[in-house]
Amino acid sequence: MAGRLDGKVAVVTGAASGIGLATAERFVAEGALVVAGDVQDENGAMLERRFGGRLVYQRCDVTDDAAVQALIGRAVDAFGGLDVLFNNAGAAGGLVPLAELEIEAFDQMVAVLLRSVVSGTRHAIAPMKARGGGSIINTASVAALSAGWAPIAYSTAKGAVLHFSRLAAAELSRENIRVNAVLPGLIATSIFGSALGMPREQADQLAAMIAAGATTAQPIPKAGMPEDIANAVLFLASDEARFVSGAQVLVDGGLTTGPRHSWDPMEPGPMHRIFGLPAGQPFAPPGGGA
Ligand code: NAI
Repeated sequence: MAGRLDGKVAVVTGAASGIGLATAERFVAEGALVVAGDVQDENGAMLERRFGGRLVYQRCDVTDDAAVQALIGRAVDAFGGLDVLFNNAGAAGGLVPLAELEIEAFDQMVAVLLRSVVSGTRHAIAPMKARGGGSIINTASVAALSAGWAPIAYSTAKGAVLHFSRLAAAELSRENIRVNAVLPGLIATSIFGSALGMPREQADQLAAMIAAGATTAQPIPKAGMPEDIANAVLFLASDEARFVSGAQVLVDGGLTTGPRHSWDPMEPGPMHRIFGLPAGQPFAPPGGGA
């Protein structure tokens, strides 16, 4: 059976874990040749062994513009060109009040989450043009949309990733390069443990706990998994999405449909709070009526 990415060459950053890993796996399964970038060399080497010949790993710290350029150059050298770029590497940082936010920590978050996306996109233009077009997918977050989901530096950077994706989509449309953002909700990966400073192994265990336990975090009663994001990214990478550019593709199990009381009958809504009624109890205006 034909793969949905047959004949395509893709670069994936943050490919050694979580969403990037699931996407690299999915891309290979759908016929792509993949260059995987990350800073976890052991996992990268393992990936290379697993996919012998269809995936190469290259160390790439995405805060280093030259390293990002070299990663994209590897796609051209190893596989002859570039069709798809998934700018995905990321970390979350700590949850600190704004007054205590260290400006260096803010800069670092912006470098990892936002400048990396700009780097990747810039360097992808020439090789994609040479192929007659391409698809760039950037990992934003529900944290790009509103407060309350993630630390302030992270959320600010993700908001900018979302806007940058639209700007790049507009400008690069004339080169037949599509640019889209994917916005994951709560996805069971190691990012949470890493943000808490846990060693990798422990962070991976926490990810497994989230996978088992986060079934009530959003309207769809299952935990969000890296594969759920990989499926959306696969669509955006493929020619099935040939008319999709500048989109924000939410993959959040309905998390951002509305406040919790709008979908969880056990959560008191504002009217319940005002009238001191227990959650779930239907209420009517005094004297009855609709
Ligand atoms: P993860 O921790 O499993 O994977 C992130 C990968 O990025 C790791 O392999 C890590 O080594 C790599 N990385 C971190 N800094 C890097 C750097 N400077 N250079 C190169 N690689 C680097 O986490 P996850 O969840 O798979 O994260 C992937 C993306 O998804 C991130 O951009 C994250 O912000 C985003 N995201 C995740 C959500 C979640 O609930 N897990 C929700 C919304 C967005």
